[in-house]
Amino acid sequence: MSAPNKSFDPVAVAALQPAAVQAAVEQALTDIEAANTLDELKTARLAHSGEKAPLTLANREIGALPPQAKADAGQLIGRARAEIKKALEARQVVLEDERDARALSEEKVDVTLPWDRYPLGARHPLSTISEHIVDVFVAMGYEVAEGPEIETEWHNFDALNLAPDHPARTMQDTFFVEAADAGLVLRTHTSPVQIRSMLGSEPPIYVVCPGRVFRTDELDATHTPVFHQIEGLAVDEGITMADLKGTLDHFAVAMFGPDAKTRLRPSYFPFTEPSAELDLWFPQAKGGPRWIEWGGCGMVNPRVLAACGVDPDRFSGFAFGMGLERTLMFRHGITDMRDMVEGDVRFTTAFGSEL
Ligand code: DAH
Repeated sequence: MSAPNKSFDPVAVAALQPAAVQAAVEQALTDIEAANTLDELKTARLAHSGEKAPLTLANREIGALPPQAKADAGQLIGRARAEIKKALEARQVVLEDERDARALSEEKVDVTLPWDRYPLGARHPLSTISEHIVDVFVAMGYEVAEGPEIETEWHNFDALNLAPDHPARTMQDTFFVEAADAGLVLRTHTSPVQIRSMLGSEPPIYVVCPGRVFRTDELDATHTPVFHQIEGLAVDEGITMADLKGTLDHFAVAMFGPDAKTRLRPSYFPFTEPSAELDLWFPQAKGGPRWIEWGGCGMVNPRVLAACGVDPDRFSGFAFGMGLERTLMFRHGITDMRDMVEGDVRFTTAFGSEL
C-alpha cells in the first residue's frame, strides 16, 4: 500500500491487508510444496487459486475500493496470485516428471523374459516309455516292427494258434469290424505283429513291437478299451528259454535299475509252449521291493512257426508281451487309468519331457 487512504476500511477488507495476503501466499506455497502427488496438487490448487481461495475472494473486494486503493490492492493481489500460479506450475512440472519416470520404470517391458503364453505341453508318458523300451531292445540289436490296428482274424487269432472255437478267442473281448463276415477285428494284442514279422522275413528275427490294442472294456480306474502293449520276438537257431530269461532280466535292469530281476511262473498261452507269466521284482515299490505281474512270455509254439513258414525243426524262438499302461502305473504310482486317457496337460507335464 503506497499511501494511507482515508476511505480504505481495513476492517471491511481485512483480506486485502498485506499481512493477510502474505499469510495466504505463504500458506499456499507451503501446501504446494507439500503436495506429493498430482491429486494433492489439485487440492492445493483449488484451495489457493480456486473460486473459494482467500486471494480470489480478496480480489473480489477490490472493486469496492476507492481508485488509488484499488490500484495498490490490485498490484498486491496480482503479485500474490502470480507467485502462487508460478509455484503451482513449477510443482506441476516436477510431479508430472516424477509420474512419468515412475511409469517408465514400473511399466517397463522386459523383452528378454521367456515367452510362455502358449505353453508347449509335454509328450505323453506312454510315448516316452514306449520309446525308452524300444531303445533298450534296439541297443541289443532288435528292430522295431509295426502292424495294422485293424487286423485280420487270421493274424490276430488263427495264426497264433487260437482256433475259431478256442475259448481264448472270446476271453479277449474283441471288437469285430463290420461286415460280420469280413474277418476283421481291432487287434486285441500286439502278438499278430509276430506273425507279420515271421511272414515278412527269414530268421534270424529279433523284433520289438509297440502298439495300440483294443478290447471291449468300459473305461474305469483299472480298464480302458484302448491301451498299449509291447511285444518282443526272437527267432533264431538254438534259441532257448535261458535266452528269454536273460533278455527279460536285462530289460528289467535297464528299466528299473540293478536290483530288478524277473521270475517266470508256468502258465498257458496258445501261441507259446511252454508259456509263463512274467513277474518283475520291483525295487522302487512303495512299501518296499516286491513281485509285480508284468506280462506273459514263452517259447514260440512250433505250430505258430509252421503257420508262418518257419521250419520248427531248425528254428526256435521266444516271445513276450506286456501292457504299457500297467507298466507306467506301477512305475510312477498312477492309480487311475483315466488320467492316462483323458489327455489333460496337467497330467502329462508332470512327467516332463523325459522319463
Ligand atoms: N498277447 C498276450 C496278451 O495280450 C500277451 C503275451 C503273452 C504276449 C505271452 C506274448 C507271449 O508274446 O509270449 O495277453
